[in-house]
Amino acid sequence: MTDFRCSYIVAASYPDLVIGDRQTNQLLWRIPEDMARFREITMGSIVIMGRRTFDSLPGRKPLVGRVNIVLTRNVNAVNGVKGVHFCDMSTVFDIVKQYIDKPVFVIGGEDLYRLFWKYCTCLYITFVKPVCIENTHGNDVIATYAKFPDVIKLPDEDIFEDTDICRSYKGIKYVFMTMSNL
Ligand SMILES: NC(=O)c1ccc[n+]([C@@H]2O[C@H](COP(=O)([O-])OP(=O)(O)OC[C@H]3O[C@@H](n4cnc5c(N)ncnc54)[C@H](OP(=O)(O)O)[C@@H]3O)[C@@H](O)[C@H]2O)c1
Repeated sequence: MTDFRCSYIVAASYPDLVIGDRQTNQLLWRIPEDMARFREITMGSIVIMGRRTFDSLPGRKPLVGRVNIVLTRNVNAVNGVKGVHFCDMSTVFDIVKQYIDKPVFVIGGEDLYRLFWKYCTCLYITFVKPVCIENTHGNDVIATYAKFPDVIKLPDEDIFEDTDICRSYKGIKYVFMTMSNL
C-alpha cells in the first residue's frame, strides 16, 4: 500500500527509550496525564498494535472508540475477541482501507515501531525520566525498547530541568513532544 501513512505514539524513558518490561509485559509507569493524552490523540482513529501490546491492555479488551488492529503471525490462535481485527502483514493494509479517512496510529510495541517506520510521518512521544529499575514484581527489568532511526533527534539532556515543558507525577518527570514531517 504505497499511500499508507501513519503516526506513532509512544512513551519512552529518556535517553534509553525503554517502553516496557518483557517479563511482566507491562509499562514501567502509569502517568494519568500521559494516558489521557494518548486517549485524546488516538480517539476516533485506527490503532495498530502488536499482539503482546494487545495482551497488555487491561482485561485484554480493545481500546474503545477506536478501530483496533492487532498484528500476529498466528491469527487462528487469537481470533475471536469482539471488536478486534487480528491480522498479519499480508492483510493489515486491506483492513485499514475499509476505514476511509480515519487517521492511523501505530501504538507499539517494539516490533511494530520497527515494522511501520517507513510509513511514519509524525511521532507523539512522551519522554520519561526513569525513576526505578525494578518492575512491579520487584525484579530487574528486562527492557523492551523503541528503536527509532537516527532521524529522531533526541533532545538535550536537560529537558527534565526545563520547567516550561517538564511535568511531574508522583516524582516521575516527563515531557510531551510532537515530531512532525518525518
Ligand atoms: N511505552 C509505550 O508507549 C508502549 C506502547 C506499547 C507497548 N508497550 C509495552 O511494550 C511491551 C509489549 O511490546 P513488545 O515489543 O513486547 O511486543 P509487540 O510488538 O506489541 O508484539 C509482538 C507480537 O506482534 C506480532 N508480530 C510482530 N511482528 C509481526 C509480523 N511481521 N507479522 C505478524 N505479526 C507480527 C507477533 O505476535 P504473535 O506472537 O502472536 O505472532 C509478536 O509476538 C509491553 O511491555 C507493553 O507494556 C509500551
